Amino acid sequence: MTRLANAHGAINLSQGFPDFPAPEEIKDAAREAIANDINQYPLTWGSESFRVAIAEQYRTRYGMSWIDPERHVTATCGSTEAMIAAMLGVLDPGDEVVVFEPFYENYGPDTILAGAVPRTVTLSPPDWTFDESELAAAFSARTRGIVINTPNNPTGKVFTREELGVIAELCQRWDVVAFTDEIYEHITYDGFRHVPPGAVPGLEDRTVTISALSKTYAVTGWRVGWIVAPEALTSGIRSVHDFLTVAAPAPLQEAGVVALGMPDSFYERLALEYLERRDTLLRILQETGFGSHPTRGAYYVMADVSHLGMGDDVDVAHRLTKDVGVAVVPGSSFFSRPELGTHLVRFAFCKRVETLEEAGARLRKAFA
Ligand SMILES: Cc1ncc(COP(=O)(O)O)c(C=O)c1O
Repeated sequence: MTRLANAHGAINLSQGFPDFPAPEEIKDAAREAIANDINQYPLTWGSESFRVAIAEQYRTRYGMSWIDPERHVTATCGSTEAMIAAMLGVLDPGDEVVVFEPFYENYGPDTILAGAVPRTVTLSPPDWTFDESELAAAFSARTRGIVINTPNNPTGKVFTREELGVIAELCQRWDVVAFTDEIYEHITYDGFRHVPPGAVPGLEDRTVTISALSKTYAVTGWRVGWIVAPEALTSGIRSVHDFLTVAAPAPLQEAGVVALGMPDSFYERLALEYLERRDTLLRILQETGFGSHPTRGAYYVMADVSHLGMGDDVDVAHRLTKDVGVAVVPGSSFFSRPELGTHLVRFAFCKRVETLEEAGARLRKAFA
């Protein structure tokens, strides 16, 4: 959709990357690291300073004080590499992995590349919650993993402590590892707070926690993320990571130390700025007749397009991009059963308010 947006001069509300600059302190730290010649391979599992900063963040922010940078932390090339390295390191061929849908598109392919089999469980609007009996039925002796993406792309769902408790109970019963994707951990709204699954009783010793610099610090092109996992899982994951990529970029890990050390005020401002962007997009969608589902975290809105009479989600996404000048993602791309998403498109609002207002002007011209 980004390619189509570029070809048609559309405002790109499809792919989830910011159109505003990264914080100056972090860019300065990256420049300084390069100038200071931190330009060679770091340790394969990550620079010590970065791993220490990661462990420190989990301790102070979430009380996960058991994390030892030497034994539990691995720096990766973004959370994308983190997830595939974790699955390749933990899963065996034939294992099953529970994946909630709608999903971020990588989890199914990651599972398959690891030789395992995805089992999907539906998240249903308006709260995008799961049916406990459907979830329980997806677990069996073959289940080895479950993917938990919270805050969630594309739904904006933030899993509650109670929901994670239900998942924890099933993971214990069936001896299952939780692979989490917490890349939107700092972007939540309406009093919802991120609960790291790895801090939930019953999941502490069976969670592979994944996050990255990409979204929090508006550096999606840097490709720096990390994995926190129990020692027994870390050794396999580190081997895979070594063979896949050798290491994450050395100077950008140094900048990551500065990023993770940003004061609380940075995260408070981040959340407030995203709130303004979310509310701007929701107002535009309301004014132009798109029915949208609530977004409690991350930076996406799923909107209903069945009333437009413009065809299915793929037709709508193409016509919005080409005729209206606003690019979105077809909803069916987030489901293993595409028919569940043919009435939906996803808007990303990780954009300057001016960009969103310009998209609003185009949508109003076409629909209001
Ligand atoms: C849920 C989720 N996980 C991972 C990624 C990619 O993360 P990274 O840039 O760290 O590889 C994205 C990007 O949109 C995402 O939405």
